[in-house]
Parts: sequence; structure tokens; C-alpha cells
Amino acid sequence: MNACRLKHGFRFLWLGLWLVWSPAVWAQEEAAWPAALLWAVIGLLLVFQTLLIIGLQRSRLNNKRARNALRQNKVELEARIAERTESLNQTNQQLQDEVAHHQATEILLRETQDYLHSIINAMPSVLIGVTPDGTVTHWNSAAELETGLNPEQALGRPLTEVYPALPISMETITRTIESGVPFVNENIQEGQGSNARYTDLSIYPLIAVQAIGAVIRLDDITMRVRIENMMIQNEKMMSLGELAAGMAHEINNPLSTVLHGVQNIQRRTSLELQQNHKVARELGVDLEQLHQYLNKRRVFHFLEDIREAGERSMHIVSNMLEFSRGNNRAHEQFDLVRIVQHTLELSDNTLNLQSSQGHRRPDIITELAPDLPPVVGSAAEIQQVILNLLRNAVQAFQSDERDEAQSTAPVIHLRAYLERGAAVLQIEDNGPGMSEDVRRHIFEPFFTTKEVGQGTGLGLSVSYFIITEHHSGTIEVDSMPDEGTCFTIRLPLADRTEHHRTSHSLSSGSSL
Ligand SMILES: Nc1ncnc2c1ncn2[C@@H]1O[C@H](COP(=O)(O)OP(=O)(O)OP(=O)(O)O)[C@@H](O)[C@H]1O
Ligand SMILES: [Mg+2]
Repeated sequence: MNACRLKHGFRFLWLGLWLVWSPAVWAQEEAAWPAALLWAVIGLLLVFQTLLIIGLQRSRLNNKRARNALRQNKVELEARIAERTESLNQTNQQLQDEVAHHQATEILLRETQDYLHSIINAMPSVLIGVTPDGTVTHWNSAAELETGLNPEQALGRPLTEVYPALPISMETITRTIESGVPFVNENIQEGQGSNARYTDLSIYPLIAVQAIGAVIRLDDITMRVRIENMMIQNEKMMSLGELAAGMAHEINNPLSTVLHGVQNIQRRTSLELQQNHKVARELGVDLEQLHQYLNKRRVFHFLEDIREAGERSMHIVSNMLEFSRGNNRAHEQFDLVRIVQHTLELSDNTLNLQSSQGHRRPDIITELAPDLPPVVGSAAEIQQVILNLLRNAVQAFQSDERDEAQSTAPVIHLRAYLERGAAVLQIEDNGPGMSEDVRRHIFEPFFTTKEVGQGTGLGLSVSYFIITEHHSGTIEVDSMPDEGTCFTIRLPLADRTEHHRTSHSLSSGSSL
């Protein structure tokens, strides 16, 4: 259509040009000038109009083209925007997925971290993480329990400040980290006697690139060491006991013969028996003279010595035979407090006698729980144990070589109470105590520090057997030189023994 308009435009142009040119043709005649001028003007106007139209038409055409191009551009732009929007949406979705994934991973990580934390905290071992310069990076619950410092108070601080009692130096920790080889130190002892604590210590160097340092682990093995010591002691006592029992059996018969013989000699030389006078008369011997002779030559004295020594040996032998006796003594329920009181009444005389020789009689202070449940066993044997321990305490005061002015008044504490489902009996004196060397051997048969003839060294070994073998209890000693001695006996209660026996017989029944 535009082309058609242009065509018309050009026709007008030609017409205009012709109108301009033709007057020039006509102008050759003078009369035709005005008309020719008019036509020329009209022609020029036509030419101008045509040129104007053509210009306008061109600009319209250009306008249209520009609008079309603009429209095209707009369509393209919209398409590209849609495309971009789509791609942005996709990226956005991917990002959202990624964020969700990260969040899930983070939750999982936190859960795993919490789980690992709870595992570490649930462990009874003290676990401490440190950097090579000794700054604390990890502090578990056991460490908190041990030191009283919570993780907030310990983390980031020097180990030597927060755990000064740690039985290892910072140099060893640094050396272990540098070497990369774990360090282990077992059975570290702190304190003495029953206050002694045993620890196993390990240092594990951390080898991860991100974490250079070490983990220090501390295990309290006091209970294990005590049980091991008791087992060793038990083993030793068992073998020594068997040996002693064998010897006792062997000695028992000849000893009986000796004692019997002495008794017979004493009876048959006695002036009080008519039968002796009769036989002497038959033989023409003066019994009274013979008696005087024997007396003068101290034969009766020697016989008395033989009898005394024999009876003493018999006592030792009967004590030694305690080892071989099985756990078949008549066991019954009894009130431990009543037995303690009864033993004290019985021993009153003995203690008085033993303390009379220039020594002060020790005060006996009793702290006996009135509501102690009954225990099961042989009351007579327990009484024997209490007597042995009381006698030892009194004898310890007698042998006390400390300056009397400096040493405190002799006191024996006798306690009976309930602790963790067991009846506890404690006999404590403030006497001279024992050295570590003596303390280690006191439960061994025939171990004594007393002079020959003063002690057999069987009192505590027999007591040990009575408590551990016959009563399934425990006996422990706590003693320090110059600080006194405390024996602690634990006996199972009657209901627990019943329960133990029932469950034992049930389990052995089910194995059949
Ligand atoms: N309370 C105590 N204080 C200090 N030492 C003690 C005490 N009890 C026991 N001992 C030490 O333990 C050792 C062994 O004691 P144990 O009762 O077995 O034998 P003993 O008293 O020497 O002889 P026995 O009891 O046969 O008369 C004693 O010789 C003594 O050195
Ligand atoms: Mg004794």
C-alpha cells in the first residue's frame, strides 16, 4: 500500500515537473506568460507537495519499521526474560534444595555431635582434650565430677590451672604429641593405706590435620586394685592355710601323747592318789621322799613347763585347724550389737589384767546402731574375732614406745552400723599404728612383731578366715605409724544371705 502511495507521489512529481517545465515551453509566446507562470507556480507547489508527501510517507515508513523492530525486540526481550525467569526459578529451586539439604545435614551433624557427646560424657573415664600448648579443648562429665569445674569454666584455660592434681607433667604431654605415640602409665598411687587411690593414665595424640593435640584419659582403678589385693591375699591365705592345717594334723597326735603323758606323770607322782601310795609300798619306796626329791630337783616344775608349753601348742594347733574347717559351722541369725556388748563384758577382765602393768587402761567408746538388722553366722566365731582385735589393740598400747606425755589418752572406738546393705563393725585404736611393711603381712599365719612367747601370730589370720571364708565378709585394715589402727569388718545381712543362697541354689538347679 505504501508502495502504491509512493507510486502516486511520483506521478504527482512528474506532473508537477511537467507543469513547471511546460510554461517554459509556452513562454516562447509572450501572451502565454501569466498562465505559464501560474502553471509553473502550481507545478512547483505540486512538486513541493509531492516531495512533502514523499518525505512524510518515508518518515511514516521509517516510523512503522521502527515500531515493528521495537515490537520484535519487545517479543524477543519478553522471550528472553521468560527464559531467564525460568532459569532463575530453576536456580532458585536448586538453591532451596541445597539449603534444605544443608539444614538436614546440619541437624544430622548436631545429632551425631550430641550423641558422641553423650557417649563421651557417659564414660566413667576422665577425658580431657588439650592443644600442644596445654589449653583445654574438651572436658567431659567425669572431669567435671573429679575437679568440680564445669566445661564453661575449664575450656580454653591452661590444663595446669584447671587440673593441678593431674599426675602427669605438661612436658610429657607435649613429648607425646610430638612423638605421635600413645603414652600409658598404669597403677599410679596417691596417698597411703586405705586412703590410697590408684589411677591408670593414658595420653592419645590426635593425628587429624585440623586437630593437633591430645586426649588425656584417667581411670580410677582403686576398686579393682583393692579387689585384686584381696584376691591375692585370699590366695596366699588359702595356700598357707592348707599348709598350716596339714601341719596341725601331723602335730596334733604326738602333742596329745605328750600332754597325756605329762598329765599321767603328774597324777602318778601325786601324793593325793591312794593308788600311788599302794604301789610305792609294794615296791618299798617312800612316796613322800620321792615326792620331795622330785620337787627339790624341780622335776615338777619342768613337768609344769612341759604341760604349759604343750597346752600352748595345742591352742596353736587348734587355731591352725580353723583353716581346714569348712564353712559348715552352725550358722544362725544373730544380733551383732548384742554380741559386741557381750564380748565387751567378757573381755573386761582380760583388758583390765593386760593393762594393769603400768599402762593406762584404754577407754572403750561404743557407737552401736540400735536398729542394725541381724546377720547370719556363728556368733561364737565373731566373738572370737572381736576379742582378737580388742586384745591386739590393748597389746599395741602396751608396746607403745612413744612418750606418754606426747601420746594422747588411749582410746578404742567400737562401731557397728549399716552401710550399703552390709553390717559394718569397726575397731579403731589410737595406738602406735603399723608401718607399711608390717601392715602388708598381718593376716599371714604366724606373722607377729611380738617377742617370742608373747604372740603366736595367728590371731589375725584366724580372724581373716572366720570373716572371709566362714561368713563371706571382708576385713580390712587402715593403719599409719603414730596414727593408730582401724580394722573394718563387713558382714552380709541375714536377708541378703538368704537371697544370695536362694539365687545360688536356683542357678545351680537350672544348670542340671
Ligand atoms: N591394733 C594394732 N596396732 C598395731 N599393730 C597391730 C595391731 N593389731 C595387730 N597388729 C600387728 O599385727 C601382728 C599380727 O597380729 P596377730 O593378732 O595375728 O598376732 P599376734 O597378736 O602377734 O599374736 P596372737 O594374736 O597370736 O597373740 C601383731 O604382731 C602386730 O604387730
Ligand atoms: Mg593377736
